[in-house]
Amino acid sequence: MVTDIEPSVTVIILAAGKGTRMKSDLPKVLHTVAGRPMVMWAVEAARQVTSDDHIAVVVGYEADQVRAALPAGVTTVLQADQLGTGHAVKLALDAGVGAGDGVVVVVPGDTPQLHGSILAGLADSQAQSSGGVTMLTAELDDPSGFGRIIRDESGDVVGIVEHGDADDAQLMIQEVNASVYAFDAAALRNVIDQIDTDNAQQEMYLTDTVSLLRDALGGVGAMVGDPADSLGVNSPAQLAEVDAVMRERVNSELMASGVTIIDPSRTYIDASVTVEPGAVIYPETYLQGDSFIGAGAMVGPSVFLEDSSIGAGARVWYSVVRESKVGPSTEVGPFASLRKGTVTEEGAKIGTFVETKNTHLGVGSKIPHLSYMGDAKIGESSNIGAGSITCNYDGYEKHDTVIGDNVRVGSDTMMVAPLEIGDNAWTGAGSTISKDVSPGALAVERSDQREIPDYDARRRKKADGQ
Ligand code: UD1
Ligand code: CA
Repeated sequence: MVTDIEPSVTVIILAAGKGTRMKSDLPKVLHTVAGRPMVMWAVEAARQVTSDDHIAVVVGYEADQVRAALPAGVTTVLQADQLGTGHAVKLALDAGVGAGDGVVVVVPGDTPQLHGSILAGLADSQAQSSGGVTMLTAELDDPSGFGRIIRDESGDVVGIVEHGDADDAQLMIQEVNASVYAFDAAALRNVIDQIDTDNAQQEMYLTDTVSLLRDALGGVGAMVGDPADSLGVNSPAQLAEVDAVMRERVNSELMASGVTIIDPSRTYIDASVTVEPGAVIYPETYLQGDSFIGAGAMVGPSVFLEDSSIGAGARVWYSVVRESKVGPSTEVGPFASLRKGTVTEEGAKIGTFVETKNTHLGVGSKIPHLSYMGDAKIGESSNIGAGSITCNYDGYEKHDTVIGDNVRVGSDTMMVAPLEIGDNAWTGAGSTISKDVSPGALAVERSDQREIPDYDARRRKKADGQ
C-alpha cells in the first residue's frame, strides 16, 4: 500500500555501520528479527509511504552483503567510511537522493519496530509544517545511550544532545531521540554541510541538523511515540528484546485475522509465514521462512517448520518439517522428521518415529511407525509396516524405491534400492527385498521357522547340573 502524500516522500535508511556493540561479523542490520533482516523491516516500513525508486539505503560495512539482502528496485549509496549519521545522509543527498521539493524521511536500519504508519504520520505532519523537521521521540525509563531531547521553557524542541556529549543535568532527561525524522528536503540540503565533528565521537551527527533547522526556520515538530518503537538494536540483548516485541506483533496480527494461538509467548512465527484463519497453533512451535499453514490445520505442540507448507485440516505435532509439503487432512507425528522433498497427499499419514527424505506419499497412504523412507515414491492407499526401511544408499550412490498403489509392505521390510514394488503387491514381515516385486504378488525372503520341542525343560536341567 502506497499512500498518497503530497509532496513526494523519499526515505533514506541508514545501514552503513558495523554495529560494533553486537560483537559479530555479520553487519548489524542483517541480524534477523522475527525471521527478517532488520534492514528489510525498515524497507517494508518505507514501502508504506513511497515506492521502491524513492527508497535509498546507505551501505558501508560489508556493503555487498547488505545490498544482496535488498530488493532490486531500491537505491543504495556507499558510505565507505562511517563518519556518522549526518555524513551518511549528506552522501545520499550529494548523490541526488531526495532532490527537489518534498519530504525526506530518515530511518535507522536498526529499529525494526518502526511501522510505516509512524513514517506516514511524520511525513504528513512535516508536509503541513513551515518548520524544517518533524521528529519522533519517546520517554524511556532507562534513556542511557540515546540522544536526549532538549526543550526550552515553553516546551519547544531546541536540539538533541548525544549521550556522550551530555552534562549531568542533560543525562537526567528521559525523552530520547528515536532517530526517525521527516525533513523538508530543501531545508535539509541547506543545513547538512554545516554539521561538524566537534563532539565526543568526532562524527558528523545527523542530530545536529535539528538545532540548525530551528535556527533557520523555527518550529521543530516532535511526535512522542511508543517507547517500544524507539528501541534501537545495538547489542545481542537488545536484539532479543526487540525480537520479542516483533514476535508479539506478528502473533497479534494473526490472532486478529482468526488464527488461534494457544500461548503466544511460546510461539515463534516469522513475519514471512502465512497462516490461514481457523488454524490452531499450539505452544513451542517455530514457523520459519517461506512457510504456509492452511485453514483448520492443527500445528504443535513442539513443531519446528522451515520453508514448508501444511495443508488445510492437517495435524502436525512434536515434529520437525523442513522443505516439505504436507497435504490437506493428513497427519504427521508425534515424533516425525520430514526432510527436504517430502510431499504427502490428502489423507496420508506419517506417524511416530518416522523419518522421510525426498519421498512422495500418495493419497491415503500411511507410514505409521518407526520407519525411514528416502528417495521413495509411494502410490495411493498403500501401507508401510512398522520398522520398514528403504536402503537407498549403497555407500556410494543414492537409489530410488518405487512402491505402487494398494501395496502392503510387511513390518520390518528392508527394501534394497533400486527397487520397484508393483500395485497390490505384498511383502512378508522381516523380509529383505532386493528384487522387484510383481503387481499382486507376495514377496517373502526369510528362512523357514524350525521348532525344537521341550527346549526349556532340557535347558533348565542343564543349568541345574543334572
Ligand atoms: C542514534 C542517534 C541518537 C538516537 C539513537 C536512537 C545520532 C548521532 N545519534 O544513535 O540520537 O537516540 O540513534 O537509536 O544520530 N549509520 C550509518 N553511518 C554512520 C553511522 C551510523 O549508516 O556513519 C547507521 C547505523 O548503521 C545504524 C544507524 O545509522 O543503522 C544508527 O547508528 P548508531 O551508531 O546505532 O547510532 P546510535 O548511537 O544508536
Ligand atoms: Ca542505534
